Amino acid sequence: MDYPGFTIWFTGLPCSGKSTIAVLLGEAIRRERNMVEVLDGDVIRTNLSKGLGFSREDRETNLKRIAFVCNLLTRNGVPNIAAAISPFENVREWCRDLIGDHFIEVYTRCPVEKCIERDVKGMYKKALAGEIKGFTGIDDPFDDPIDPEVVCDTDQETPEESTAKILDHLRKEGYLPARGSTNGSGNRAGVQEAAGAE
Ligand code: ADX
Repeated sequence: MDYPGFTIWFTGLPCSGKSTIAVLLGEAIRRERNMVEVLDGDVIRTNLSKGLGFSREDRETNLKRIAFVCNLLTRNGVPNIAAAISPFENVREWCRDLIGDHFIEVYTRCPVEKCIERDVKGMYKKALAGEIKGFTGIDDPFDDPIDPEVVCDTDQETPEESTAKILDHLRKEGYLPARGSTNGSGNRAGVQEAAGAE
């Protein structure tokens, strides 16, 4: 059986867990679909969107470029994951319209206080000290998604639990083999996943 391409479109504050979950999810999808691309905002900004800043206009350009690539992959049957802050509802809607039915929005919901506590790269500290201007969640807006397909409460779930939640959605929607069925390589999908989770 052929499974369609799809885009997992993450949205969430800095340090809300997007990249961590995207990596775990990418590994899990690869085990079952044999191919996947992860487009991480931080990485995209070193190549495809090199030179863009964080004004509303530049963020919009960045996100539309990512969506352009996701659409190419999706229409060719390749599972793909975009992990950028993606703070604006109208731009997320534009991306959804471009990609169509196979667009799956995942909100990594986390209180900003918790993200500040995590502060993986020390950027919140700088933003709070006024050394970075226009930092999302501090002095730049983040529009809460209106109707995301999946919400991961990353202050309450482990990255593995959030990943499992997204995988369940993908199975339910027919993007991955149902649990216990066999994939194209003849491997039992459920068994593979259980092994990967250990
Ligand atoms: S988006 O708004 O265009 O979706 P994107 O995900 O590509 O953002 O980039 C966010 C990353 O850029 C953050 O992980 C952080 O490391 C870095 N960054 C630098 N300046 C800012 C800023 N002003 N706001 C948010 N992130 C910033």
